[in-house]
Amino acid sequence: MHHVDAINIEELRGIAKRRLPRFAFDYLDGGAEDEFTLRRNREAFQHLRWRWKTLVDVSRRTLATRLLGAPSALPVVVGPTALNGLFWPDGDLEIARAAAAAGVPFTMSTVSMSLVEDIAREAQGRLWLQAYVFRERAITDAIMRRALDAGFECVVLTSDFPVPGKRERDWRSGLLPQQRFTAATWLDILMHPRWVAAIGRHRPRFVNVERELPFGHNVNAYVGHNMFDPSFDWDDVKRFRDVWPRKMLLKGVLRVDDAERAVAIGLDGIVLSNHGGRQLDGAVAGIEVLPEVARAVGGRASILVDGGIRRGGDIAKALALGAEGVHLGRATTYGLAAGGSAGAARALEILADELDRTLALTGCPDVAALSPDLLVRT
Ligand SMILES: Cc1cc2nc3c(=O)[nH]c(=O)nc-3n(C[C@H](O)[C@H](O)[C@H](O)COP(=O)(O)O)c2cc1C
Repeated sequence: MHHVDAINIEELRGIAKRRLPRFAFDYLDGGAEDEFTLRRNREAFQHLRWRWKTLVDVSRRTLATRLLGAPSALPVVVGPTALNGLFWPDGDLEIARAAAAAGVPFTMSTVSMSLVEDIAREAQGRLWLQAYVFRERAITDAIMRRALDAGFECVVLTSDFPVPGKRERDWRSGLLPQQRFTAATWLDILMHPRWVAAIGRHRPRFVNVERELPFGHNVNAYVGHNMFDPSFDWDDVKRFRDVWPRKMLLKGVLRVDDAERAVAIGLDGIVLSNHGGRQLDGAVAGIEVLPEVARAVGGRASILVDGGIRRGGDIAKALALGAEGVHLGRATTYGLAAGGSAGAARALEILADELDRTLALTGCPDVAALSPDLLVRT
């Protein structure tokens, strides 16, 4: 695997920005409306400051941990991102391989551009399926059944998408609400001939959804009109819990009462998330509600958190406040766009190195030593 030259996630973002046509970079990078929440996700971490323990022997350190009861090399899960195939050819396979090589789980989005079966065959690691709930529940059920057969261990039900957020960068490029690119977008695409040669020609599609539709159906139109069902509610979650026999998480929780309810229904845990600032602008950051949620359901459920994780130190802060692990969104996707599997691997390597340094510098030989008293809120 070739080496991608970047010393931090921000540099991977810069490479991604140069390689991708503007519309694809904006889809990856952007948030909803004024992007207050997108920025807040970063600021919330900046307001947490370490008061380290000094003179602890940290000569022997490990980042290894357990996620959902199984071993993981890092307290990290590669989270679901749609349209990975626009960022690199076979993007889902590439990022899944990087996750497997790093010893962390990979979460495949419902709207991935590689088949469940291909991912299971090509990437040997732990696989999770993110599920959007289609108006026709049978489509979601069928994709879950295929993931079950392919050996996926966990379903992540995304609950923060009753309607799409107002992503103004995508409206401006013409990617959303219906794909109708503007002249400026076409011109910009033509100025990225390498991307056109690698990706434009074989037009990545939502292959997992397409497979469940009658032959000849336009899958993009179908997804646009049917994927986000505003009637999705707790009764549906209960039914999915009965249908899916393995681990199940609810993603998009920001409140103690919702976390309690998820646990009461028998879910294995929650992902505290505002969808990377892409849904409701003005939402709180997952990391901000983590302490109260950890007090309420910690020990009874796995708590993951996402949003704005760009440094290994951010991962340490989430663990110190009671998370079992974090979901990565853009960090690994910037890496993918910067250099395929090698770029995603570089993102994970950067975060692991920074996490290791943070453990040493805060006086923690392992992630279990991270505790809330190490942090102050400023
Ligand atoms: C390009 C992109 C696509 C995404 N697609 C999905 C998706 O299909 N399903 C989902 O549950 N979340 C999706 N998300 C949200 C991420 O899973 C995650 O919650 C978020 O990106 C975390 O914030 P971060 O990017 O700041 O790390 C997407 C995020 C991005 C950036």
